[in-house]
Amino acid sequence: MKILEIKKKVKKIFINHGLNTKDASICSEAIINAELVDAPSHGLARLMMYCKRIQKKLINPKPKIKIKRISQSISHIDANNSIGFVAGDIGIKEAIKIGKKTGIGLVAIKNSGHYGLSGYYAEQAVKKNLIVLCFTNAPAAIAPYGAKKSLFGTNPICFGTPTASKVPFILDTSVSIINRGKIRRAAKLGLKIPTGVALDIFGKPTTDPKRALKGVQLPIAGFRGSGLAWMVDILSGVFTGGNHSGKVKDPFDDFSGPQNIGHLFIVMKSNLFVGNNYNNKIKENIKIIKKLPKIKGIKEILYPGEGKYKRYKNNIKKGILIPKNILRDIKELLK
Ligand SMILES: NC(=O)c1ccc[n+]([C@@H]2O[C@H](COP(=O)([O-])OP(=O)(O)OC[C@H]3O[C@@H](n4cnc5c(N)ncnc54)[C@H](O)[C@@H]3O)[C@@H](O)[C@H]2O)c1
Repeated sequence: MKILEIKKKVKKIFINHGLNTKDASICSEAIINAELVDAPSHGLARLMMYCKRIQKKLINPKPKIKIKRISQSISHIDANNSIGFVAGDIGIKEAIKIGKKTGIGLVAIKNSGHYGLSGYYAEQAVKKNLIVLCFTNAPAAIAPYGAKKSLFGTNPICFGTPTASKVPFILDTSVSIINRGKIRRAAKLGLKIPTGVALDIFGKPTTDPKRALKGVQLPIAGFRGSGLAWMVDILSGVFTGGNHSGKVKDPFDDFSGPQNIGHLFIVMKSNLFVGNNYNNKIKENIKIIKKLPKIKGIKEILYPGEGKYKRYKNNIKKGILIPKNILRDIKELLK
């Protein structure tokens, strides 16, 4: 389907669900961006879920979002149970605004919901020549190292920097071996998941996404990944005033209350310590790494975000392919 056409449909769905035009547009842009960077697990596959949560009054379509300036470089946002995309958009714009003025911007957000891809927000800061870190917590998926029960979310860690080229460096990674959205999408489309990424409720490895969703996902790098998930839970939940320690509700299965997810954005001017030399230094850094001898089968050493940029450019020309069952969801939501 053509990009403009699908964006319009998604925007209309959100307007029909009570969002104002601006917020509906923010949501539509973020969802279609996920499709364009080949992250469909965070795109249209979640549309029905967001709408159900709005209908059940667990996402507030008309939030009164409050921004409290704690100092010139620090703000605390109460998102009033808004959809995560809107809270994320307001949060990163606030961080950029204060970061540009003072050199550093720290923005904490509470009472938000699932905001999609961290990299989407990071890119906005990088476009303004800022270095950025984004954190968000997520519903229980990973068992803390040594525990039998999942508690941490797939809690992505995202770091972005300008590169003095049009392709930003965006490291945006879940701390689980694969992100939960991929497992959900596989369950929805009747596909298998790779081996070694999840265990069933009996602690046995499984490739069945439905069993994996009931069991636990495995963190990257054992106790190190578990530690990173814990760090993100503290920064996004404990620090911001959001939910933490397993209390973030699963948006698909738990309709007993709002999610109260927390996000944390930190932006820094890239020229703070080395002035405009940053551009030359980052270019040199990337050049040295890219020139290293490569292992068999690797044509080019890519930096994080490079592949995504290429996919985006390619997909924006081609349009996106929407699976039948998701097209059905869209038709139903447009009724
Ligand atoms: N909101 C939430 O609750 C939530 C939770 C988990 C994940 N997510 C999002 O899901 C998205 C996907 O996460 P993921 O863990 O599946 O990411 P991924 O595994 O696709 O990629 C992780 C990182 O590795 C980089 N990368 C991939 N291949 C590379 C290569 N060949 N060379 C160099 N770098 C390479 C990517 O650019 C990316 O920065 C992220 O945008 C994340 O923010 C959101």
